[in-house]
Amino acid sequence: MGSAEKFLPYGRQVIEDDDIEAVTRVLRGDYLTTGPAVGVFEADFAKVAGAKESIVCGNATQALHLACIALGLESGKTAIVPTLTFLATANAVRYTGADVIFADVDLQTGLMTPETFEQAIVLAKQQGAAPKVVLPVHLAGQTVDQEAIQNIARRENITVLTDSCHALSSTYKGVLAGACRYEDLAVFSFHPVKTIAMGEGGAITTNDSALAARLRLLRGHGMIHRAEQPFDPALGLDENGAPNPWFYEMRELGYNYRESDIHCALGSSQLKKLDRFIQRRRELALLYDEQLAPLAPYVLPPLRVPDCVPGWHLYAVRIDFEKAGCSRASLMNVLKAQNIGSQVHYIPVHRQPYYRELYGDLNLPGADHYYEHTLSLPLFPSMTNEDVCFIVDALRSAIGA
Ligand SMILES: Cc1ncc(COP(=O)(O)O)c(C=O)c1O
Repeated sequence: MGSAEKFLPYGRQVIEDDDIEAVTRVLRGDYLTTGPAVGVFEADFAKVAGAKESIVCGNATQALHLACIALGLESGKTAIVPTLTFLATANAVRYTGADVIFADVDLQTGLMTPETFEQAIVLAKQQGAAPKVVLPVHLAGQTVDQEAIQNIARRENITVLTDSCHALSSTYKGVLAGACRYEDLAVFSFHPVKTIAMGEGGAITTNDSALAARLRLLRGHGMIHRAEQPFDPALGLDENGAPNPWFYEMRELGYNYRESDIHCALGSSQLKKLDRFIQRRRELALLYDEQLAPLAPYVLPPLRVPDCVPGWHLYAVRIDFEKAGCSRASLMNVLKAQNIGSQVHYIPVHRQPYYRELYGDLNLPGADHYYEHTLSLPLFPSMTNEDVCFIVDALRSAIGA
């Protein structure tokens, strides 16, 4: 049994000399935070995502939380979240005090569908709730059927906040995920396993400038620094009626969800190589498809959805463990012994003890089926073609195909 020279995780960052130089420049400069690199990154990112505005935050969880507040979620309100996602999508709703209705997903793609969205709306109404927001998730980089979901949402007066954390550079009907043609707001993550890395980082995109201004206010303590009308003269005016030189005013309860200039400089540097990263991810996904073909029906490549060109954050195969005669845990351990990482994306959120205690045991069979068959194999731009062949060989011998 061979083993990879170096551990191949399911995902990791690619940091090059120019990224290090960009960060070093900030470290040698005047501003480590609230400086010019923040605005530069926001402008760079809005351009790349095809939206008018981007608001950068310390991570995508914070970005989701701010977006949920700005869309009016609060105690007594309800949002629909597909259960096959990372915890943060649902947790952000709960931070506001609002309730989550979990939508089921397609059993083969793990994506919320127009049908499962409709089912969740019916369920919400049966419980006496009128859902206010839906958070579709573009799992692994494949997009949901955005147009159909948007049409249903409009009919029901539901706002669409897309969790695009996996979908930087993915397109749906030729439109970039996050461009806000098919959604009101979108959220991205720049965690190191994602498509670009900032250490920790996240952003919201929108085409609504007023909403963007509100999100920026909420990101910084709900505080303004310049005396904009109307402001409280007791706080803001000197004896001549001019704003005090130290003026600041808190307009609502906000947060410190700022991102630093250090992280933003890394983000802008990473964005310059995004096209190269995406091209390599797409090449690697195709190579996996080819190499895996003989392993059917034990192992199947990700089922492609129509109208989408994915950026491929993850390469998640579907495995028939019963047919293969092994458990997922034993397969993961065999791969790990050969220096191959793998991961499961995700345990359906409704199965978590916190949510079971809140909402009881839910029956979401599409998510259960998807969860029981999925395994994410290593995918990151600095992998070689030989790495892919090695991983598929290891998989083949582990399942005896
Ligand atoms: C689908 C999804 N949503 C939200 C998040 C949260 O992102 P962050 O770690 O930047 O807070 C992640 C990160 O894993 C994610 O995969």
